[in-house]
Amino acid sequence: MVKEVSETDFPSVTVQEGKVKAVVPKLEAFVTQPSDYAPSKAPVFYNPVMELNRDIAVLAFQAYQRTVNRNISICEPLTSSGIRGIRFAAEIHGVKKVMISDINERAVKLAKRNVHLNGLNERVTVQHKDANCFLSCHGAPRKRFDIIDVDPFGSPVPYLDSAVRALRNKGVLAATATDLAPLCGVHAKACVRKYGGKPLRTEYCHELAVRLLAGCVATVAAKHDIGVRVLFSHSTDHYIRVYAQIAYGAKKADASIKNLGYLLHCFNCFHRETARNPFDLRVTKCPECDSQLDWAGPLWLGKIFDSQFCKLMSQENRRTAFRNSGKITKLLALAKDEAEAPVTYYVLDRISGKLALPVPSVSVVLQNLRNMGFHAFPTHFNSRGVRTEASALTMQELLRKVSAVA
Ligand SMILES: C[S@@+](CC[C@H](N)C(=O)[O-])C[C@H]1O[C@@H](n2cnc3c(N)ncnc32)[C@H](O)[C@@H]1O
Ligand SMILES: [Zn+2]
Repeated sequence: MVKEVSETDFPSVTVQEGKVKAVVPKLEAFVTQPSDYAPSKAPVFYNPVMELNRDIAVLAFQAYQRTVNRNISICEPLTSSGIRGIRFAAEIHGVKKVMISDINERAVKLAKRNVHLNGLNERVTVQHKDANCFLSCHGAPRKRFDIIDVDPFGSPVPYLDSAVRALRNKGVLAATATDLAPLCGVHAKACVRKYGGKPLRTEYCHELAVRLLAGCVATVAAKHDIGVRVLFSHSTDHYIRVYAQIAYGAKKADASIKNLGYLLHCFNCFHRETARNPFDLRVTKCPECDSQLDWAGPLWLGKIFDSQFCKLMSQENRRTAFRNSGKITKLLALAKDEAEAPVTYYVLDRISGKLALPVPSVSVVLQNLRNMGFHAFPTHFNSRGVRTEASALTMQELLRKVSAVA
C-alpha cells in the first residue's frame, strides 16, 4: 500500500513493508532520465527491491534469537530511512534494543519520524554518526551488540573491522555487497584491493563473490583473534549477502583461517578444484584437458550455508506472511541442500554451448547424475546450475548422452 504524504522537504510516500509503515522518498519524482537509478537520486536512499533482503534478515535474526533464547540487541549503522532497523524491532520477537544510524542528516530525520510512526521510540534509537565512529563507540565489552547489519552502498569492507569489534562473542554480522563488478571479476584489481582476493569471471562468479566476502570477513576477524562460521548467504538481484557468526579465541581464528584457500578453474573444459592452503598456491595444468588453469582467491572454501540454520529460517518463514514468502521458501529449500553440496556448480548452458548441443533440463541431469552414484543438487545461485562432484569431462559425456537420447 502506498500513500502520498507531506511534511518531508522532498516528495514522499508511506509504504507498508512487513509489519511496519515507513515514509520514504517518492522515487518517480527523482527520475529525470530513463537511465537514472531512482533510489540513489532521492535525498534519502530507499530501494523497494531490497524488501526481500530485509525479509530474509528478519527471518535470520529471529532464527538466531531462538537459538540464544534471550533478549538481543541489533545495530544497523547505515540505516537510511530506518525501515530495516524498525522492522527488526517490530517483527523479531526478543529484541530489546535496536540502534540505527546514518551520516546523512535528512536520513536521520526521516528515520526518527519512521520510528515515531511505528510507536517504537522506546526500543529504537536513531543516531547521526559515521558508521565506523558509531561502531567504534560500541567496541567495549558491555556496549557490544548481538547482531550488526551492514547494508551500505557498494562494498561493506570499510565497516567490517569496526563491526567485528562491536559484536559480542557468538554474535552475528550480516553484510550486503552490491559491488558485483569487482567481486565477479569485471574490475578484478578493485576486488583485490578491497577484498584481498582475486576474483574470476566464471559462470559461478556469484558464488565466488560470496566466498570472497566471507573470506574477507574471516581475515578481518582473525586479526582480533576472532573466528567465524557462515550461517547463511545468498545472491539475489544485484547484490550478495553473508551472515557470519563470530566466536572469540585465537584457536577459533586459526580454525577459521583454515577455511581460506584458492579455487582453480579451467576455461577450456570447465574443470575446477580447490587448494586449501592460503599461503601456498600452485597453479598447475588442468588434469582433465591439460590447459593452463586460472585461479581465484584467497577466498572462503568452508560452508556458505548451515543446513540447521536454514531449517530454523524455514520454520520462521512458515510463521510469517511476507509478500516474498513464496520466493523465500524456494531459496531456503535450495540453500539447505546446497549446504552439503560440493564447492561451485556447473551451468548447463555453458557446457551445452561449448559442445554445440541443446540444453537439457536441470532435473534430467540431476537424475542421471544420481543414477550414476554422484551427489547432485540444484543451486539458488543459478536456475541452470548443478552442484556435483562429477568431473567436467563426466559432465560433458553426460550432456552428449542426454542429448542423443532426447
Ligand atoms: C544502501 S543505503 C542503506 C539502506 C538501508 N540499510 C535499507 O535497508 O533501506 C546506505 C546508507 O548509508 C549511508 N552512509 C553512507 N556512508 C556512511 C557512513 N560513512 N556512515 C554512516 N552512514 C553512511 C547513506 O547515507 C545511506 O543512507
Ligand atoms: Zn580443462
